[in-house]
Amino acid sequence: MTRPDMSEVPAATVVDVHKSFLGGATAVPALVGVDASFARGAVTAIVGPSGSGKSTLLRLLACLDKPDSGAISVDGTDVTRASARGRREVRRTLVGYVFQQPSHNLLDYLTAEEQVALAVRIRGVSDPDAPSRLLGLLGLSERLDHKPSQLSGGEQQRLALACAVAGGPALLVADEPTAQLDHEAGQLVLEALLALRSEGTGIVVSSHDPVVMDAADHVLRVADGRIEENW
Ligand SMILES: Nc1ncnc2c1ncn2[C@@H]1O[C@H](COP(=O)(O)OP(=O)(O)O)[C@@H](O)[C@H]1O
Ligand SMILES: [Mg+2]
Repeated sequence: MTRPDMSEVPAATVVDVHKSFLGGATAVPALVGVDASFARGAVTAIVGPSGSGKSTLLRLLACLDKPDSGAISVDGTDVTRASARGRREVRRTLVGYVFQQPSHNLLDYLTAEEQVALAVRIRGVSDPDAPSRLLGLLGLSERLDHKPSQLSGGEQQRLALACAVAGGPALLVADEPTAQLDHEAGQLVLEALLALRSEGTGIVVSSHDPVVMDAADHVLRVADGRIEENW
């Protein structure tokens, strides 16, 4: 896959996206005409009350689901027009995703260093320094040989972020990555997200936490499936 020039193409763009879910006999609108652009090397926070459409938007950005209408591009590739296979390729090469639940993001039997090395290989790029660089950046230098069961929830989430950004995807999507953590561990995960800007990936994080909103470079406030504020 040829990669467009990093400096010019946003990590992702969303144009007039609509998405509904069937709830009983009627369709429940989750996103109603959403437009957004996500820059590389920046953290964008998506905030809004429960049920406002945050997870739906993140799943569409991560190519885990398709919109009913509208267009989504990742690194300049229109993923709404791509085949299933094309979308899988986009996920493999261009998107990292971090779930709220730390244990959902990692393999039990690999050490931290091995998980990051595997993530780089899966992307199909060569970056032998990635494990030491990324784990160092996220404060996990002392944890290279540790398996997930030997890490705290916060450390697991930081390792998950290292794996998600390994191999230089255009986009890193994290759905409430601090929601299961106490304040202190959540703060370290937030600092990890900010530190990862130097990798050049566009980082999109949903959260209820005002601390995340304050720290982010851009904020999209969502309510009832619409973007209410964007700065
Ligand atoms: N798979 C689904 N099936 C049915 N309804 C869904 C599904 N996913 C989300 N919804 C509905 O879409 C709306 C937005 O949900 P969601 O994106 O999960 O919001 P948030 O992440 O902000 O809490 C809610 O009304 C929710 O009930
Ligand atoms: Mg959600």
